[in-house]
Amino acid sequence: MPSRLFQHDVLDQQVAIVTGGGTGIGAAITRELVAMGARVVIASRRPEHYARAAAGLSAELGVEVVGLPLDIRDRASVDSFVAAVIARFGRIDLLVNNGGGQFLAPAETIRPKGWDTVIQTNLTGTWNLTRAVFDAWMGENGGRVVNITMLTSRGFPGMAHSVAARAGVEAMSRTLAVEWAPRRVLVNCVSPGIILSSGMRNYPEGAEVARAMQSEIPLKRLGTVTEVAELVAFLASPGGAYITGQTLVVDGGRSLWGNTWPLPDDEDPAPVVIPSEPWEENEPG
Ligand SMILES: NC(=O)c1ccc[n+]([C@@H]2O[C@H](COP(=O)([O-])OP(=O)(O)OC[C@H]3O[C@@H](n4cnc5c(N)ncnc54)[C@H](OP(=O)(O)O)[C@@H]3O)[C@@H](O)[C@H]2O)c1
Repeated sequence: MPSRLFQHDVLDQQVAIVTGGGTGIGAAITRELVAMGARVVIASRRPEHYARAAAGLSAELGVEVVGLPLDIRDRASVDSFVAAVIARFGRIDLLVNNGGGQFLAPAETIRPKGWDTVIQTNLTGTWNLTRAVFDAWMGENGGRVVNITMLTSRGFPGMAHSVAARAGVEAMSRTLAVEWAPRRVLVNCVSPGIILSSGMRNYPEGAEVARAMQSEIPLKRLGTVTEVAELVAFLASPGGAYITGQTLVVDGGRSLWGNTWPLPDDEDPAPVVIPSEPWEENEPG
């Protein structure tokens, strides 16, 4: 008997939105969803990322991938985008909030504008589109939302703004999962570790830093965009039908171990004295 999870037509007739679907992780998610039979709309700000990528993906996959302009920070843009998807397809079954970004900076160098932009993109932008899709379709008809976040369980030095936004998305997702359960809307997060993707180009010496980081990952390699996409595909499949409010980590063990932000030791470290009770002091150790 064939798997019901990954059979070709398992998302037949379903309509999916993938923000940032023209690059990196988003393009890999688009490929997986198309392979499962979904009709996919990719959306972002730059025509080379939505229009050119939509044409390229359509040619590669032999199925039309629709590309539309969208700035998730701009509520007017979000509203007209959602209206355009509904006008064209009449439904939205899956929303993948993958579009986002940040810049690497120690906290003491982040200026107010930089902080606001990262929060507006990654937290408020995710909220803007999720709420618009809920209002336009999912609130009445159900659906699934998958938010791409980042590793939030430990500190993420150099990314104070973005990790705050992503932890906010994860908390928001747990909350929406409860509030919207009666509407049959499932809301989950996928939290990637260090993934070899186009996003690495946004960082100076990104490839070199990423290569160095491999030794900090228990599986000793970076993740691939396909490995993230397959987890999203699972959540979109019948296998994800009873999962909501969760953050699933795909990181080769990165969040469990490793240190990429060495902290200097004190020049004169305090002596370590193991405390003892007065009556224990003369006892042999
Ligand atoms: N690669 C990693 O190691 C890693 C790890 C953890 C999390 N992530 C997250 O995973 C997601 C995808 O990452 P990636 O590596 O594929 O990076 P990427 O290639 O830089 O993808 C980011 C995408 O988001 C879109 N985007 C940015 N701002 C937007 C906005 N205001 N409105 C609509 N779309 C917007 C971009 O398109 P436009 O420029 O055309 O708008 C681009 O397609 C990002 O949220 C990233 O932060 C990545």
